[in-house]
Amino acid sequence: MRAIVLVGGFGTRLRPLTMTRPKQMLPVLDRPMIEWVIERLVDAGVEEVVLSLGYLPDAFRQAYPDQKCAGAALRYAVESSPLDTAGAIRFAAAEAGLGADNEPFLVVNGDVIADLDLPALLALHRDAGAEATIALTRVEDPSRYGVVPIDDAGRVEAFIEKPAPEAAPSHWINAGAYVLEPTVVDRIPPDRRVSIERETFPQLVAARSLFARQDDAYWIDAGTPATYLQVQLDLLSRVSGMQANHVAATAAVAPTATVARSVVMDGAHVAPQAFVAGSVLLPGAEVCKGARVVSSIVGAGARIGTGADLDELCVVGDGVTVPDDLVLRARRLPDED
Ligand code: GDD
Ligand code: MG
Repeated sequence: MRAIVLVGGFGTRLRPLTMTRPKQMLPVLDRPMIEWVIERLVDAGVEEVVLSLGYLPDAFRQAYPDQKCAGAALRYAVESSPLDTAGAIRFAAAEAGLGADNEPFLVVNGDVIADLDLPALLALHRDAGAEATIALTRVEDPSRYGVVPIDDAGRVEAFIEKPAPEAAPSHWINAGAYVLEPTVVDRIPPDRRVSIERETFPQLVAARSLFARQDDAYWIDAGTPATYLQVQLDLLSRVSGMQANHVAATAAVAPTATVARSVVMDGAHVAPQAFVAGSVLLPGAEVCKGARVVSSIVGAGARIGTGADLDELCVVGDGVTVPDDLVLRARRLPDED
């Protein structure tokens, strides 16, 4: 089985961390986000992954020079300008010869970490004779996602990308994992930006050939500060219980420091009497004496000055120094969370 993983977006919601690396190369606990995504595809029987790249493609090439990642063979399809999700799929399929064998293939968003039942998705796709089949997950606020009402047979009745909060007809949303027949690729106009969510899926709804499967498994889109933090705390508590930390072997935490439910990556340093809770410290980050870092993300090599106090989802850029005793609270608009 082959899969396309979409990783070409700019990751704007995770700036400034994504100014220097693509979102999917941000570390999640001990390895880049992309490896968590590909690992799950491999578990479902995927052997070859085509990375659909645009923004900062060299980050992937450098990280996986032998073109192997998490047990899959890698191919790279690099767009010269962003083609949006469907344009990217058409381009990647052509580059890698996907669909030439008339077999369906998988497509996933590269920022979704989930335990979706992909074999069951493939089975529904086959049984329904679908042209495309979407995995769905249930969320509280569907307005930030593609909302997908279905009938009893699983046929998609509408695909509404990012509706106004009151307008969403369902809490079941596009989980960012699809099975596509090669005929879907033929429907995508070449050489321009095309959104699968706004153009291709509505077209398939009209053709009555789009199906979807509701899945209750763990699911998160790690593409915002809140969810990039949350996914790591979720994985942490799953591996080692609610109060556990993930402290890399090369990190240093002073005996008089407190670190709770947090991730301390390679070479990061927490000084005496510092307090770190519900937070992620990227590689080489430094929390100085008596500083307090709560529910926040500290970039690689950043330095939180003595006595500084960060809370409420601060995101500190790589290499930034937060002055001593400064108090910072992030104020975000709802769609920025
Ligand atoms: N190659 C390429 N080219 N990749 C792209 C491009 C592009 O022009 N634009 C976006 N991507 C990639 C991103 O890197 C990401 O992995 C994926 O496509 C989805 O883009 P996001 O920017 O993360 O979209 P979203 O989270 O707002 O919404 C999408 O995901 C939701 C689920 O998490 C949509 O598919 C929604 O319908 C869906 O509910
Ligand atoms: Mg996303």
